[in-house]
Amino acid sequence: MASFLRAIFLAHFAVEQRVRKILVTSALPYANGPIHLGHLVEYLQTDIWVRAMRAQGHQVTYVCADDAHGTAIMLRAEANGLTPEQQIAQVQREHERDFAGFHIGFDQYHSTHAEENRLCSTDIYLKNKEKGNIAVRPVKQLFDPEKGLFLADRFIKGECPKCGAADQYGDNCEKCGTTYSATELKNPYSTLSGATPVEKESEHFFFRLPNFEPFLKHWTRSPGRLQSSIANKLDEWFEAGLADWDISRDAPYFGFEIPDAPGKYFYVWVDAPIGYMGSFQHLCRQRPELGLRFEDYWAKDATTELYHFIGKDIVYFHALFWPAMLEGAGYRTPTGVFAHGFLTVNGDKMSKSRGTFIKAETYLHHLNPEYLRYYFASKLSDTVEDMDLNLDDFIQKVNSDLVGKFVNIASRCAGFIHKKFEGKLATTCAEPELLQRLIDAGDSIAEAYESRQFSRAMREIMALTDLANQYIDEKKPWALAKVDGMEAEVHAVCSVGLNLFRQLLVYLAPVLPTLAAQAQHFLNIDSLSWDSRKSLLLNHDIRAFEPLMQRVDKDKVAAMVAASQESLEATAASPNTANAMPSTATANEKANAKTDKQAKSGAKADSAAETGVIDIADFAKVELRVALIEAASMVEGSDKLLKLTLNVGPLGERTVFSGIRTAYSPEALVGRMVILVANLAPRKMRFGISEGMVIAAGNDDGIFLLSPDNGAKAGDRVS
Ligand code: 2FM
Ligand code: ZN
Repeated sequence: MASFLRAIFLAHFAVEQRVRKILVTSALPYANGPIHLGHLVEYLQTDIWVRAMRAQGHQVTYVCADDAHGTAIMLRAEANGLTPEQQIAQVQREHERDFAGFHIGFDQYHSTHAEENRLCSTDIYLKNKEKGNIAVRPVKQLFDPEKGLFLADRFIKGECPKCGAADQYGDNCEKCGTTYSATELKNPYSTLSGATPVEKESEHFFFRLPNFEPFLKHWTRSPGRLQSSIANKLDEWFEAGLADWDISRDAPYFGFEIPDAPGKYFYVWVDAPIGYMGSFQHLCRQRPELGLRFEDYWAKDATTELYHFIGKDIVYFHALFWPAMLEGAGYRTPTGVFAHGFLTVNGDKMSKSRGTFIKAETYLHHLNPEYLRYYFASKLSDTVEDMDLNLDDFIQKVNSDLVGKFVNIASRCAGFIHKKFEGKLATTCAEPELLQRLIDAGDSIAEAYESRQFSRAMREIMALTDLANQYIDEKKPWALAKVDGMEAEVHAVCSVGLNLFRQLLVYLAPVLPTLAAQAQHFLNIDSLSWDSRKSLLLNHDIRAFEPLMQRVDKDKVAAMVAASQESLEATAASPNTANAMPSTATANEKANAKTDKQAKSGAKADSAAETGVIDIADFAKVELRVALIEAASMVEGSDKLLKLTLNVGPLGERTVFSGIRTAYSPEALVGRMVILVANLAPRKMRFGISEGMVIAAGNDDGIFLLSPDNGAKAGDRVS
């Protein structure tokens, strides 16, 4: 009996091993900002996984899309003077450009604002409604009478109802940790307009998540579904009790209107994961030659696999709401949801002022994307631990592992094969055992890739790379080449070296696709599939060797950090930012233009200093903006300064240390409009970086802040 079961198991395993059909997604980035290195952790993790699984012969489809809906995107478009459609189209182009720059090979990159997604969202909603999983009831919410919209918690601030701390968001107090509803805040104000919100009632639609509790408890504990730390977290949520989920938002909202509910829209998080389906649907239709059938991947009885790669912050949506919505609508649910941690740079949160908030585009301007692909791979694991990009370690590791060890094998051997043996490898293999050892290691490396233990895969590959280098070091082909009669030995050693290199190349190809393609050309081989490593290259012609990778230049890393600081200043200083998308494409150009301007204005300043008179062009250089004081606090160790957090509309949030403590208490300032010099170079102070200056009049009686008349809005230009 046991052997019968084993036979069935093996037969099943063998079938699965032949070709598994797998649909893979990465989380959909919001269409309101640029891709940065923090995002790339996930896209690189997914792309490497997809490439590794394909190399092992599986049929993998990788889809993604821009997450295009929601209030934030609507407001961003408005601030930029664009329609939401223009805004999301522009951002999507930038996102696709950046992803392509890092060789992230989506089969489909779509948008959630697409017809397929509207149809899928409507379908899932209606099926759930039919099953009794939708409830409708009135909700009281804060409403901004000036902007004419309901305010999400993050757009409301006020005093904590428990401890009285000023300037707390509408959901919880950062000072005392109390959670509350926004309507409980004292002296609330809208961060969008500064207006006092009013309570207003409207009907909302709810997804009845508690209906799915038994299903979810079972689903989240099914083998392979979730990492154990995530499943444990979910248990805590189950214990706390599941609640109905508010899935509607009132107009004005950028999204899909709910069927038979005019003026009500699906909350962005409803149609975001459905965007995985919409994107896949689009691919099926656009590329019929692929033979992909929507039902094979989404029908309840689908035998294909479905994996979502996500950040640990969006587990709630992917491991509760999403499977429940699918289950309720009679679709299949994900096979696995894989969460990862966040990125720190040099041990800290990414920071604009330190230049470690590095945009994908800025990185690509200075460095080879495969450096980062390898560095991330060398640090990624299957856990949700945060991951650090230490820039010194990055330089050291890439130079040592990839350039010093891996590429070096080929460059040490190829020259002799060309010079002495007309580019042809030896007809027999001199070290079958060593080669077999590398071939055998492929199973463990494949398993490490599949289980997302990329750091283990890289360690195992580098240990094999060390073996290959040791072999060459011991044999010293460069010394043998000088000894008469040792030609055959040189040929044998270099042929072994290049065969070892080829096997390592198969293992590293998912991480280094461009280098792999170049090396494949040089080795003159058809395939880099996992199995291809098992056949040796004997009596085989290779092509001329071209350098495969340059060392990381530390000056370029420094330049990238500097440009990341500059691009922030440039964004703030650019006179066009109020109406233009904060285009990363021109960030460096802006930075350069600014340097030129500074050089020129230096010359002019002398003449102005002589006469004391400036012309209109000089005055126009000072960028004055209306700013809303969102938070104000004392600065420990200073009796003059207050720390102000300013909302400058399209320019975002600024921190300014202002010498007004003697004249104002922090409480009196919150919610007040002031005038900011927005293009003053950021100044490093003992307490932090001050990003501008608030202007005030002064006389013997004190300091008097300037304010605009009623009607001015945060971010407005003053001229
Ligand atoms: O957190 C985010 O950035 C979301 N835009 C992710 C959406 S993932 C999926 F559900 F669409
Ligand atoms: Zn509090």
